[in-house]
Amino acid sequence: SILGVFLTVFTLLLDFMMRRKNWSHYPPGPVSLPFIGTMLYIDFRNPHLSFNKLRKKFGNIFHLQNCWTNVVVLNGYKTVKEALVQRSEDCADRPYFPAYEHLGYGNKSEGIVVARYGHIWKEQRKFTLSTLRNFGMGKKSLEERVAEEAGFLCSAINSEKGRPFDLRFLVNNAVCNVICTTVFGDRFNYGDEAFKKLLQLFENSLNEEAGFLPQLLNAVPILLRIPGVPQKAFRGQKAFMDFIDVLIDKHKETWNPAYTRDFTDAFLKEMEKGKAAEENGFNYNNLRLVTADLFAAGSDTTSTTLRWGILYMLLHPEVQSKVQAEIDKVIGRERSPTMKDQVSMPYTNAVIHEVQRFGDIVPIGLPHRTYRDTMLQGFLIPKGTTLITNLSSVLKDETVWEKPNQFYPEHFLDANGQFVKPEAFLPFSAGRRVCLGEQLARMELFIFFTTLLQKFTFVLPEDQPRPRQDGRFALIKSPHPYLVQAVPR
Ligand code: HEM
Repeated sequence: SILGVFLTVFTLLLDFMMRRKNWSHYPPGPVSLPFIGTMLYIDFRNPHLSFNKLRKKFGNIFHLQNCWTNVVVLNGYKTVKEALVQRSEDCADRPYFPAYEHLGYGNKSEGIVVARYGHIWKEQRKFTLSTLRNFGMGKKSLEERVAEEAGFLCSAINSEKGRPFDLRFLVNNAVCNVICTTVFGDRFNYGDEAFKKLLQLFENSLNEEAGFLPQLLNAVPILLRIPGVPQKAFRGQKAFMDFIDVLIDKHKETWNPAYTRDFTDAFLKEMEKGKAAEENGFNYNNLRLVTADLFAAGSDTTSTTLRWGILYMLLHPEVQSKVQAEIDKVIGRERSPTMKDQVSMPYTNAVIHEVQRFGDIVPIGLPHRTYRDTMLQGFLIPKGTTLITNLSSVLKDETVWEKPNQFYPEHFLDANGQFVKPEAFLPFSAGRRVCLGEQLARMELFIFFTTLLQKFTFVLPEDQPRPRQDGRFALIKSPHPYLVQAVPR
């Protein structure tokens, strides 16, 4: 029994040492229990709500302890801005996710979304941004592709013939096709079996990622050594990556270095450049990872925002009518909307921004990690601390927004009805890690949303309950399923 007491004291001490941090000037936080830390304080299905409660007690910056990981949560516009903008480089790293090694994401900087801050991430980000910007490469521009897809989406909605239906599948198809076009140069027809499979695998993999097991494995990586556990935990993601591999391989068969069709071609061309390119991360594995990142970060985000948009139109028919009146005035019913129309459509633009603000679809952003010791709000945050940016608390910051908890497009209009964008509008985050697809997402939201409302009026079917506004959280906050009727205009 003495051995027992000794072992208990020893393990408690070890646990304490593992969690040791620079105690002075460290942000306050709830009491941390041995081994599990503060995990009991967090409702993992609604973390932003747990953070809001803790914020009331501890202020805009507080610490948590996720087993042995030190976590600091940042709340409200001022605190989040200080970290992301003023201390941009100090806060630009990402936590290391041991579980990702099992997907081929190594400890090094690979892919973009979870890549560690450093040379390879910078090069990959720069390359991806400029390739997206120069998309088209002599063929149709990205905007034309988005407009074309919006047309396909409207035809598919038309074939529902005004019956109640769930928008989710069609909108997902459309948005996913924009990424397919960008990455692989082509789209799928909505009924295509391979496309259905891709979407299904993709959905499984996202659900899996947000599940409890992968999070536990990241917090306690030793569990990854148990035979069979990683395979079980990441079955969906592996299947998705295998599918991406097939698409890339097919693509390689038809590759012609003289003619760049899309992102994959541009990447393959870079890979040909030899050693320097290899050092910048242009290798086959990274092509898979960056491609998977574009799907993961670029599809569900945009389609979920659009589904919130239509849901708010059901709940606020007067807003829908005003948007349609502006569409009729500026664009008319015949021609398709273009990005040039945006400046002449302050109300529609304000509505889209309000959809993003109120929908608040990435409530706790993506985790960051301090790249070096830094000061935030007068507290010392040691290098290697995980930072959580509570973007929800920024988009609903009571010191900034007139009616933070209501859908109110006037947040983005001045007294003359002109569009204005408050600085606290940060649905894409900010600083070095700001969403890479922001421009594309804005374009998609504007073109899809205006095309849909130009062609249809969305109404709540008579027998349906009023859609809920609270949403479900799994990294992204999406609406509960709802049915809608699309009445042609
Ligand atoms: C990162 C939001 C669409 C690609 C992020 C982050 C947010 C975000 C909050 C985390 C930034 C941070 O770590 O501080 C959104 C929203 C979208 C959207 C609300 C749509 C409405 C897209 C699209 C693409 C994309 C269309 C791709 C084409 C990425 C990538 C990152 C990222 C690659 C990681 C950036 C990095 O770590 O350097 N996005 N996003 N996103 N997003 Fe988006």
